[in-house]
Amino acid sequence: MKEAPLKLFSPLALGDLDLPNRLVMAPLTRVRSGRDGVPGALVAEHYAQRASLGLIVSEGVYPSHAGQAFPGQPGLVSAAQVAGWKQVTGAVHAAGGRIFAQVMHGGRVSHEDTTGGHEVVAPSAIAIQGETRTYTGKQPYPVPRALETAELPGILAEFVAAARTAIEAGFDGVELHGANGYLLHEFLAPTSNQRHDSYGGTPANRARFVGEVARAVVAEIGAGRVGIRISPEHNIQDALETDPADAAATYGALVDELAPLGMAYLSILHHAPQGELVQDLRSRFGGPVLLNTGFASVTSRAEALALVEKGHADAVVVGRPAIANPDLARRWAEDLHLNEPDAATFYGDGPRGYTDYPFWDAGLN
Ligand SMILES: Cc1cc2nc3c(=O)[nH]c(=O)nc-3n(C[C@H](O)[C@H](O)[C@H](O)COP(=O)(O)O)c2cc1C
Repeated sequence: MKEAPLKLFSPLALGDLDLPNRLVMAPLTRVRSGRDGVPGALVAEHYAQRASLGLIVSEGVYPSHAGQAFPGQPGLVSAAQVAGWKQVTGAVHAAGGRIFAQVMHGGRVSHEDTTGGHEVVAPSAIAIQGETRTYTGKQPYPVPRALETAELPGILAEFVAAARTAIEAGFDGVELHGANGYLLHEFLAPTSNQRHDSYGGTPANRARFVGEVARAVVAEIGAGRVGIRISPEHNIQDALETDPADAAATYGALVDELAPLGMAYLSILHHAPQGELVQDLRSRFGGPVLLNTGFASVTSRAEALALVEKGHADAVVVGRPAIANPDLARRWAEDLHLNEPDAATFYGDGPRGYTDYPFWDAGLN
């Protein structure tokens, strides 16, 4: 008897795109774009190798110099950066793939020694405990300057400009990075947002800026080319959301703002994706929802199959297995042996651990 085809490997319409399978390469910061933040031929090769995944989401890309979080991170600001990304998107498309840019403003997850002297800004003047890597070595996180209410339209405009630039650079769309403790998430989380204006305080107020950014970016490039990533209760980089009722109210308010926009997708990182919070957000969003269970355990084939097969997700976001297996779509479809990711080379220079993971070879594996 012929086995029923697995849904994970079946097509999915996502905004303006038709994906051949439901595996989405997670946004993965790899810091291989040099001091000028220009992605080169190596970055193009890395992404093109992974073109058989349904969709690639790029590493977090900064929309302004103040928004740069890491040394070696690529940007979407200078003409040289746009030219670099044209090479990358061209290579991915030539290999038959699709790629979104993850637009990421680092907010307080940064340092002036990384941003080239640009002031580190955030919703409130509260520093992260601990140290960050900069061009001058490890440094304590600085106390960010709290953004004035009148400055917020300028930050919103940076996201809009980056989205427009991403399209010019050949991306198929953008993903707004509202997760993992960076600027947009800093507005959502009560520990990093202690503002007294209409962007702080209540759950609806904390969700307001993220909703406004999404609406403006959708107006600029079209809903079918815009996704957003959130990570409720992830409790990372001091963006703590430890009160379940508050988290449900905040993300509920946000998703209710997003739902009428008709965006390409909502991507959620949460340790219990089948749980009430995530599934409630999913039904309120109404459109395609992509899921990922976070850093604690590496996404497995069985977990990805179950999430889609049981109807908890429309597609699965896969990080470390996609780092280690350029042909992950084939390996998981055929249940082949996998290369193991090497965490020592996640961040660093050059091709090692980046473009040298082998494709499946029946003779070798
Ligand atoms: C090296 C590395 C870099 C990452 N960079 C980003 C990033 O730029 N943006 C983002 O939203 N998440 C980032 N993440 C989180 C991943 O997208 C993903 O959620 C995480 O790896 C868990 O999924 P996995 O178990 O499939 O690896 C990163 C994770 C790793 C391991």
